Amino acid sequence: TESLTVAELAKKLHREPSEVIKKLFMLGVMATINQDLEKEAIELIATDYGVEVEEEILVDNTDLDTYFTEDDEGSVEERPSVVTIMGHVDHGKTTLLDSIRNTKVTEGEAGGITQHIGAYQVTVDGKKITFLDTPGHAAFTTMRARGAQVTDIAIIVVAADDGVMPQTVEAINHAKAAEVPIIIAVNKMDKEAANPDRVMQELTEYELVPEAWGGDTIFVPLSALSGDGIDDLLEMIVLVSEVEELKANPNRNAIGTVIEAQLDKGRGSVATLLVQNGTLRVGDPIVVGNTFGRVRAMVNDLGRRVKDAGPSTPVEITGLNDVPQAGDRFAVLDDEKTARAVGESRAQQALQAQRSEKSRVSLDNLFEQM
Ligand code: GTP
Ligand code: MG
Repeated sequence: TESLTVAELAKKLHREPSEVIKKLFMLGVMATINQDLEKEAIELIATDYGVEVEEEILVDNTDLDTYFTEDDEGSVEERPSVVTIMGHVDHGKTTLLDSIRNTKVTEGEAGGITQHIGAYQVTVDGKKITFLDTPGHAAFTTMRARGAQVTDIAIIVVAADDGVMPQTVEAINHAKAAEVPIIIAVNKMDKEAANPDRVMQELTEYELVPEAWGGDTIFVPLSALSGDGIDDLLEMIVLVSEVEELKANPNRNAIGTVIEAQLDKGRGSVATLLVQNGTLRVGDPIVVGNTFGRVRAMVNDLGRRVKDAGPSTPVEITGLNDVPQAGDRFAVLDDEKTARAVGESRAQQALQAQRSEKSRVSLDNLFEQM
């Protein structure tokens, strides 16, 4: 049978051990931090915090990571690759994405674009690819880090007339930390001052060596403005995706990550989600970061209403109680009651963490003043 110490139980409940000890005391149980607790005591405390105990093992259903489970071989199918465009400010990331979209999205669809969410899908050789744009400005480090975490492939855009710059290096580091393949897009080749050799030379310092120089990094010279080289880039993306053998299970509750979210005057909380596994459906009870709700409406990257979104699909949803944060994870739960319980519990934990952080800060201030 499972047993837990006070410290372990406190950790699972995201509480301070001292608080759990106090609560135990109030319930008539005397315990020290490393003491093993009996099942009854664990249940008593857990129930008090609104957490359910299953088969003698404490299931912490407030930790969204527990929903990110692996699927067995038989249930997975090929999924589109997620490609994140990163690089230094003004090196042409958004222009590159616009160019890809214009050449690959059919006329009718292009007309339908009303919501530009910095995330969209195109079809190349019958294969879907999901693209995520990221900002290059120095201030958006966390957005780039998050982009790298949800991506399968990182495209690092380097302007051929400007070369490797601080956020180029930062993007490389994020991609390496996330252990995803890197493709270098040497952009602005149409410019007089373009010097691709210099870009290649500079990148050797970061162990990104082109095949022509004996390395294994893919470099694609292109011009996002004229469209030259875009097809080569797409071809490389398809090649790398095939090697990755990306799979997901469309027949499970959706899980994924928030790309961006904001409060809209008319629609309330609006969140762009990347479905990473499973299928998200209108009406699904969902926990997103520290908030929860039911998916009221879903809009795809073309601004069209959709009823479901499979693996690797970006969608904008409404129906959340509050605005989550970019990078937050989400999970669809079996019923609305559980979604509410998990969401409220997470909000509570976040509030508590914030409070203890604040009191720590004010204590520090106090010491500084002394
Ligand atoms: P941030 O999102 O702010 O980091 O910038 P970005 O990387 O998305 O750059 P953006 O696409 O906004 O392009 C910046 C400028 O470079 C714009 O004026 C583009 O027109 C220009 N530009 C982008 N690609 C090319 C290119 O291939 N050739 C030339 N000549 N100009 C380009
Ligand atoms: Mg941009």
